[in-house]
Amino acid sequence: MNADFHPSQRAQWARGQPISRLMARALEDPELISLAAGFVDNQTLPVLPVRQAMEQLWTDPRAARAALQYGTTVGYPPLREIVRERSRQVDGPEHTVPLERVVITAGSNQLLHLVTESLVDPGDVVLCAAPTYFVYLGMLSGLGARAVGVASDAEGMIPEALEEQLKYLKSTDQLARVKAIYLVPYFDNPAGVTMPLERRAAVVELAKRWSHFTRIQVIADEAYRELRYQGQDVPGTQVCDVEGDTVVVAGTFSKSFSPGIRVGWGVLPPDLVAPVKDQKGNVDFGSPNFNQHLMAKVLEMGLFETHLESLRAGYQAKLASLLSAAAEHLSRLDGVTWLRPTGGLYVWVCLPPETATGPDGRLFSQAIREGVLYVPGEYCFPVESRETGQNTLRLSFGVQSCERIALGVEKLAQAMRGVMG
Ligand SMILES: Cc1ncc(COP(=O)(O)O)c(C=O)c1O
Repeated sequence: MNADFHPSQRAQWARGQPISRLMARALEDPELISLAAGFVDNQTLPVLPVRQAMEQLWTDPRAARAALQYGTTVGYPPLREIVRERSRQVDGPEHTVPLERVVITAGSNQLLHLVTESLVDPGDVVLCAAPTYFVYLGMLSGLGARAVGVASDAEGMIPEALEEQLKYLKSTDQLARVKAIYLVPYFDNPAGVTMPLERRAAVVELAKRWSHFTRIQVIADEAYRELRYQGQDVPGTQVCDVEGDTVVVAGTFSKSFSPGIRVGWGVLPPDLVAPVKDQKGNVDFGSPNFNQHLMAKVLEMGLFETHLESLRAGYQAKLASLLSAAAEHLSRLDGVTWLRPTGGLYVWVCLPPETATGPDGRLFSQAIREGVLYVPGEYCFPVESRETGQNTLRLSFGVQSCERIALGVEKLAQAMRGVMG
């Protein structure tokens, strides 16, 4: 007997995510200016601070041995304490959470996965801004969940549109399937928009008010909070949740320090702590302990803040380079508009409605011929969404130098001219 291989239903649901194809395309041709991958700047990765922290770690054999041992499922307590203290510092002592609610994960992506897995069964609904972080959309489809889009504008998800959607789901007997609302409230991926505090509060209030059958959680993915280049920080989404039962915060040191260390965290409502811990126990019973000790040392030695300062200055220059190239080259094209973020790693571009940006369209292949790669905006729209974003695209400015960013935008404008006539 030699039967065919049959992957699980979940493996089939997880198939065909666009990110790997885009990355492979960029790697195939090193000449191509990739404004697609959302990687952080290779030149600013913190080699020296990590070496200093490692040296410190090795000077104490007992501490070094502890770092090389298994840790606990929810994470290294001193690191959890630092995460809690940092959030207390930025959001005020009145929003301090008990340590039990802080969990360390292998990047924030793992936190998003564990939380979502703890909330949804196949067929359940997560409401997401249209557009949103496409890896999360892939995660939802891998879990057999439905991503339902909510219209958003230059300040993120629109609360009125969210309420409309909730009303519609109730009127069609689907409200009981709604388990979460997913937000990227700071400099979001892909559109670079930040939600003002009032909007976050309105979304949290709606989640609470519409929790008729089951509590609807608000998952606030705050991956880019630290990457602000202008203006004042907005208080964290958790400050809108006085009861502390609705908002899940996902944070990460990937963007602000090093994605290779892969340390992220979550601040969870009390009811979610045990389910997430149980799921994590099944996956890895603790994120890499060594990385957590290292990250804690970096933070304790004050190396993180210094690094962040220089990182911000570097990204600010790159963003300026992208925006000035856009003003020079894209502004000459009729109907092409773009958002001007004050942080993060992305700039969102809209083309005239009839210009398709998708992987099978003329612009995508023309852009590659010109030597530039972007992320088609349609990847970022939930499957069940009124808008499809087929005339939008995302540009990332993290990886390329200022000069190559400017050149990439010039090439993109050239490609647009070619297809738009
Ligand atoms: C919005 C958003 N959330 C989460 C992540 C995951 O980051 P990590 O798992 O490295 O913490 C990313 C990475 O690009 C992101 O853009």
